[in-house]
Amino acid sequence: MTGPVLAVDQGTSGTKALVVCPERGVLGTGFAEVRPRHLPGGLVEVDPARLYDSVVRAGRQALAEAGEDVVACGLANQGETVLAWDPATGRPLTGALVWQDRRAASVCAELAEHAEELRQLTGLPLDPYFAAPKMAWIRRHLTRDGVVTTSDAWLVHRLTGAFATDAATAGRTQLLDLDRAEWSPRALDLYGLAGERLPEVTDTARLVGTTRAFGPEIPLTGLIVDQQAALLAQRVTGPGAAKCTYGTGAFLLAHTGDRPRRGASGLVSCVAWRLDGHTAYCLDGQVYTAASAVRWLTGLGVISSAADLDPVGGTVPDSGGVTFVPALAGLAAPWWRGDVRGTLTGLGLDTTPGHLVRALCEGIAAQVAELADAAAGDLGAPLDTLRVDGGLTRSALLMQTQADLLQRPVEVSALPDATALGAAALARLGAQPGLSVEDALPGWEPAAVYEPRISADRAAERRAGFRGAVTALLAP
Ligand code: G3P
Repeated sequence: MTGPVLAVDQGTSGTKALVVCPERGVLGTGFAEVRPRHLPGGLVEVDPARLYDSVVRAGRQALAEAGEDVVACGLANQGETVLAWDPATGRPLTGALVWQDRRAASVCAELAEHAEELRQLTGLPLDPYFAAPKMAWIRRHLTRDGVVTTSDAWLVHRLTGAFATDAATAGRTQLLDLDRAEWSPRALDLYGLAGERLPEVTDTARLVGTTRAFGPEIPLTGLIVDQQAALLAQRVTGPGAAKCTYGTGAFLLAHTGDRPRRGASGLVSCVAWRLDGHTAYCLDGQVYTAASAVRWLTGLGVISSAADLDPVGGTVPDSGGVTFVPALAGLAAPWWRGDVRGTLTGLGLDTTPGHLVRALCEGIAAQVAELADAAAGDLGAPLDTLRVDGGLTRSALLMQTQADLLQRPVEVSALPDATALGAAALARLGAQPGLSVEDALPGWEPAAVYEPRISADRAAERRAGFRGAVTALLAP
């Protein structure tokens, strides 16, 4: 079954849709914004109806622009965002708690003595970022009615009537047995979720159902969490390389082969994808606030948009002694301190917007460099390359800083929408049994390669400065 497919990337700040043809590339695009609400106390919520509307609007827009029929549809989702809903009507019973929401810290604190058992079982450390703590929080504080799931399962139900999630998204809950890639009764029990009705865990490429939400009837044949979709589209399909997507947050994933690797570094060990019952695994490290830290700087009036990063940062040669740890929603791997806040130090009367921009770029890049080192440590070998994608890769300042601090080339993907293209590849694989992964994926070439321009000593010095700021932040 060949022909164009519709790929939908339902992300934190918006939904992007593409109509992708294997021979002619992208035929149509659509975008609909989603605005999560940032509330006091680290709460981040979004109206589920807006999520669904954004999927439908973006999908219809892409199809209208393409003006062609599609043979299948793939859906990537934001991973750890959770809501309760009524499976009889599809009606949401709560708002959606976004992955950045910190309110379930209390649930994690209660489970502290089981942290290592849960990590061994699921590959994930105890942190409110993941879905299970939020699911338990909803059950305790909001409602015991209906089902409580990640946002993808709700969207899939609204689109097709099926009750399903894919193995990669299920792996972001802390309820999935990592070795078996199926729900873990022990983890469910620990979270007090043992009696819950849970979605079926499916392969990432498989017919889930059909939808008329975009107009014509379309089979939904690809489901995956967004970071893993980008890993696939970046053609990181074996150990040795890694990708980082600079979106709302920045997420570095390294492929670990067909076995999970539970390293000592503090990275997450999780499912990359599951095809024909065969599970591939990856390591994952997170910078919770990347574009959202840029938006924060924009909200303060320091810059007017992400497009200002380079011109404003270019007004000064360095950060002028300013250090920014952009932990605006806490720190994830390898520190796992969701409770901390960001710090901005070294300010003086001579500090300019340019210094703040450079300090932010340095803060994001230094965290990503820590994650890359952690992945290399767990894999027992340095990463060959770092392939990058996402909106912030348009900033040459950030990408050069990344290459400098990493001391390795950074290859910027020519594919601006890697996540959607990963979902498109899965949709094709699910619709066309027998198609190889190689043939389903788009070609890969870099749009730009940034080589390190500073010495290893200088990079080590700058990274030591950043680590010192993190140490000060973590001090009791
Ligand atoms: O884990 C959350 C992450 O996958 C969200 O990605 O692109 O919506 O920032 P994005």
